[in-house]
Amino acid sequence: MSREINTVGVVGLGTMGAGIVEVFARSGIDVVAVEITDAALERGQATMVGSIDRAVAKGKLTAAERDEIFARIGFAVGLAALHDVDLVIEAVPEQLALKQAIFAELDRVCKPDAILATNTSSLSVTEISVATTRPNAVIGVHFFNPAPVMKLVEIVRTVVTAPDVVADVEALCARLGKVDVTINDRAGFIANALLFGYLNQAVSMLEAHYATREDIDAAMRLGCGLPMGPLALMDLIGIDTAYEILDTMYRRGGRDRRHAPVPLIKQMVTAGLLGRKTGRGFYTYEGPGSPKVVPDELTAPPAAEALEDGRAIETIGVVGSGVMAPGIIEVVARAGFDVVSVTRGAEKSAVVAGAVEASLAKAVARGKLSEADQAAALARITWSSRLDDLDDVDLVIESVVEEISVKKAVFAALDEICKPGVVLATTTSSLPVIEIAMATQRPADVIGLHLFNPAPVMKLVEIVRTIRTSPETTAAAAALVEALGKTGVHCADRSGFIVNALLFPYLNDAVRMLEASYATADDIDHAMKLGCGYPMGPFELLDTVGLDVALAIQRELYLELREPGFAPAPLLEHLVTAGYVGRKAGRGFRDHT
Ligand SMILES: NC(=O)c1ccc[n+]([C@@H]2O[C@H](COP(=O)([O-])OP(=O)(O)OC[C@H]3O[C@@H](n4cnc5c(N)ncnc54)[C@H](O)[C@@H]3O)[C@@H](O)[C@H]2O)c1
Repeated sequence: MSREINTVGVVGLGTMGAGIVEVFARSGIDVVAVEITDAALERGQATMVGSIDRAVAKGKLTAAERDEIFARIGFAVGLAALHDVDLVIEAVPEQLALKQAIFAELDRVCKPDAILATNTSSLSVTEISVATTRPNAVIGVHFFNPAPVMKLVEIVRTVVTAPDVVADVEALCARLGKVDVTINDRAGFIANALLFGYLNQAVSMLEAHYATREDIDAAMRLGCGLPMGPLALMDLIGIDTAYEILDTMYRRGGRDRRHAPVPLIKQMVTAGLLGRKTGRGFYTYEGPGSPKVVPDELTAPPAAEALEDGRAIETIGVVGSGVMAPGIIEVVARAGFDVVSVTRGAEKSAVVAGAVEASLAKAVARGKLSEADQAAALARITWSSRLDDLDDVDLVIESVVEEISVKKAVFAALDEICKPGVVLATTTSSLPVIEIAMATQRPADVIGLHLFNPAPVMKLVEIVRTIRTSPETTAAAAALVEALGKTGVHCADRSGFIVNALLFPYLNDAVRMLEASYATADDIDHAMKLGCGYPMGPFELLDTVGLDVALAIQRELYLELREPGFAPAPLLEHLVTAGYVGRKAGRGFRDHT
């Protein structure tokens, strides 16, 4: 028979606990919220008041509803207040000994049939459960941050959790309007197991001065459509909590080096830079608990108004006729530059011109472009099939096939043809820019401009400097990106740049998780979309990008960094071998026919 859950206890009113109390109270369930000291209780109350008041201010709650919500919450110091609740959710810091002590105490205090749940992100629910005399009533109920917003709850059953306890918690999640996935007890469950390797890697990029915090975050927001960048997310999670989760995942999850916390994280914890909750983490906030970022000593000064490098850019050459070239030509022409498009023949030029015309016509039909601007953009484009016609352009963007020998040949020819001082840019997404640069006699003028597909839509451009690129070239490229209306992020010339280096290992990890039969593709996709706010789940994205493309990028990353955890998942290789490469083949992880 299922239990009636009328009153819920929440232990610990920190980042997660305060949000969890709010979730229950807003669903009409009575809550007893407990903390360890009066001061912590006050802090937790203040967090809740702030959050609920913001909902009132935004018109999402009325003042009367606000009062009803607070009337449902009882606050207390100490666990004794939980003697009569039907279910407890523990949300204290991520330390096994602390959680075990609390569960032993809850076992003494709570009613015999109360369910005892932990919100742990990475610790073993089984190990926590054995601190009680009722391990079959212990379960993991893992909410996502911020709890009132994120729809997902991971329900973690151990080998001894009673089926009726699982069923009661599943029913409770439905009452809260949450979507649950029920899974076994494994380090990081679904979402964190896929998230934390990525977060740690992003910190290591920052630590290595590979890119700035702003650029790493902007790259993942604009390149992948994520709601926040990884470093801003670390600040939201709490740097101490993130440290504990990584540390546990490293120890429990097979000692994958990618989970060994990057030294910078430990230093930040020691220095008290715990993220939003202390007002300072990777970023500086207006005050403790505030979501508002304020400038600090690491904030870059605003970009210089005009570029003083003497490289006025008026005419841009675009070489190539594949997927990317038409979009790039369109972007450049619409931004007011003259364009010389070079393909390998008149037929190819006609195809590219057709694609540009069709895309511009679509923009006009959607009311995003006037007919006059459409005509002006088209009039700025010259179609050619001779590289020699680039002898007078001010900058070249190469976007030919992703093969090093072909790109090197194009750059060697450009070196012969182009005026001195012209910026030569490659849109490669995976080849070393320096190797392309060294095909010329002017490597200081060569740079990577990694645009995303479709170029007219995607706002991000990765500006990739090699060890030979001059500061003037980088400045000219950055100015161009701005003139194109895009957001440029700077990074060094390493495999995958920022976005692909952070994205593809995560996708590969998702394949490994599926391969291990820990969860279904649907549950994994759900977890990332509803728990982390990703626009697509990893398997949806892999089928869209193409499994062959993903495998090629993952192989590159593995070869360059020699990180065992980056080795392509065997299942990914098998699917590619079988020709199941995603949407374009009608079948990948899912059937698209
Ligand atoms: N931060 C996240 O994004 C996130 C997301 C999902 C799950 N979690 C998990 O939720 C749990 C809590 O994490 P957090 O980030 O909210 O931590 P936090 O440090 O923000 O808050 C922990 C709270 O527990 C209180 N506390 C400590 N000992 C206590 C005791 N004996 N009795 C009562 N209260 C006590 C502290 O005073 C503090 O307010 C962890 O297990 C964490 O892994 C965190």
